Amino acid sequence: MNEFETAVETRHIAEEELRDQLELESLPQHIAIIMDGNGRWAAQRSLPRIAGHKEGLRALQDVLDIGYELNIPYLTIYAFSQENWNRPESEIRLLMGLLEQYLTKERQRFHERKVRFLPIGRLEQLPSSVLALVSEIADETRHHTTQTLAVALSYGGRAEIIDAVQQLALEVQMGSLSPDQIDEDRFEQHLTTWGLPDPDLLIRTSGETRISNFLPWQIVYTELYFTRTLWPDFRRCETLLALLDYQKRERRFGRVPQTVSS
Ligand code: IPE
Ligand code: IPE
Ligand code: MG
Repeated sequence: MNEFETAVETRHIAEEELRDQLELESLPQHIAIIMDGNGRWAAQRSLPRIAGHKEGLRALQDVLDIGYELNIPYLTIYAFSQENWNRPESEIRLLMGLLEQYLTKERQRFHERKVRFLPIGRLEQLPSSVLALVSEIADETRHHTTQTLAVALSYGGRAEIIDAVQQLALEVQMGSLSPDQIDEDRFEQHLTTWGLPDPDLLIRTSGETRISNFLPWQIVYTELYFTRTLWPDFRRCETLLALLDYQKRERRFGRVPQTVSS
């Protein structure tokens, strides 16, 4: 733990002090987040898992607020994975209910802040009432330009790639595309994230250092930030810490360091 992390953990540092360290001109333009650890947060308090998910939504609000205040144009959050369908039916039902409640409540704020809500994933697998709500909000916010909030629902990175490959194969079969026209750009046009820049920063909470099928195509050059903090405890100061950590990185994209001349 560095000096800032210790100070945040013991709440001996004010948010303003962290804010002052930030360089506003080099913030990530796109942050992707794997919000993990809700169940463990609840278990530590002998609460049902759903209590962790509820508290997780409060943490989400803090992070979205910071993103909005700092004018970060793209955020992508992992809310429910393809693999999460393998959870007990009771937890899935509670999660879907919570999602509906949350979106119903947040709808107004998306309009106030001019946020475009963009659901990504195999949405057709969602319960019909959730699918209807998600589609409505996506439709009514599609022209908003202040910020894009992509929410991965029933999302799996491999499934997304397979869906894209199938669409391309169909175009080839129909004769509207030849195989040598398939390049990275053409491929990306068939991903659900088409139009979003690749994430600059990926945050995963809860101490797990894996990707869990989240945006495998899009994160090849993303800076990864892993923290042991459980998602419900990932609040404003923790978000600022992640941003400060990001700003210490040198992104080389395969080149030599900027200070080295050839
Ligand atoms: C993340 O928290 C939320 C979802 C995956 C929906 P978890 O539910 O995975 O919490 P842990 O990992 O069991 O603590
Ligand atoms: C990843 O968390 C999915 C979401 C945060 C929605 P999981 O808890 O499902 O991932 P694993 O099972 O630990 O890899
Ligand atoms: Mg988990």
